[in-house]
Amino acid sequence: MTGAGGPAGGGGVVPPIGDTLVTPRPFDEYCASFGLSPRELLAGPVLDCPAGASDFAATVRGLGGRAVSVDPSYALGREGLARRCKDDLVRVHAWARGQTWRCRVGPDGTWDRIADWRASAEKFLEDLARDRARRGGRYVAAALPQLPFPDGTFRLVVSGFLLFSYADRLDPEFHLAAVRELLRVSHGEVRLHPLNDYLGHPYAQLGALLDRLAAEGVVAEIRPVTSPTLAADNRTLVLSRPR
Ligand SMILES: C[S@@+](CC[C@H](N)C(=O)[O-])C[C@H]1O[C@@H](n2cnc3c(N)ncnc32)[C@H](O)[C@@H]1O
Repeated sequence: MTGAGGPAGGGGVVPPIGDTLVTPRPFDEYCASFGLSPRELLAGPVLDCPAGASDFAATVRGLGGRAVSVDPSYALGREGLARRCKDDLVRVHAWARGQTWRCRVGPDGTWDRIADWRASAEKFLEDLARDRARRGGRYVAAALPQLPFPDGTFRLVVSGFLLFSYADRLDPEFHLAAVRELLRVSHGEVRLHPLNDYLGHPYAQLGALLDRLAAEGVVAEIRPVTSPTLAADNRTLVLSRPR
């Protein structure tokens, strides 16, 4: 396990998060955190990278949209992935329970988001099994900063809880290369959330990153949003490249 705990801004010490988690943030949380409307979800092909064990793309498809999930963990077989989801949910729950000043934990020690996260992981695993049986190709094993899609494939790209979140192990050059790649495969918008690391600190290199992107003609907007999980994760970065 890697990662060091630290202050979350006025509460207590955030426990170390350890290895990068494969998490199943649910569809409703994606919509709130990325500030997405149903119209935007259905306007064209959507990429979720990293998608982890989220039911976001499956739910978009259930609504009539087109969505693809990318994550390096999809290289694991279904059983390996199911085990990883289960183990990482246990880790997430323990992590949330260790910071009651910023996560809502009931008197019985249950984090209020865990049932929704479990349901999202179950939907994801069922949809993944169906997709693999059909060779649907909607769950792609790949890793930033290199994605196996032609330029401009997606109308909307969402990227949550890898960039900025794990700034303790991903350096500024990786962030720049990853964002460039997300922009390359998009013909519309790239949205990134949150703009804090997992300790709750704003990503210190954000200004430098935006300056480099601006020099390449990328337009950036920071939008206020509401996170159902962590109140401090209240900003989403919207990037586009005028064509
Ligand atoms: C905290 S999860 C976020 C998943 C999902 N977006 C969510 O919010 O629940 C971080 C994910 O990043 C994936 N990951 C790690 N390195 C990556 C890389 N280089 N490119 C893309 N995804 C990566 C991990 O496998 C993991 O599933």
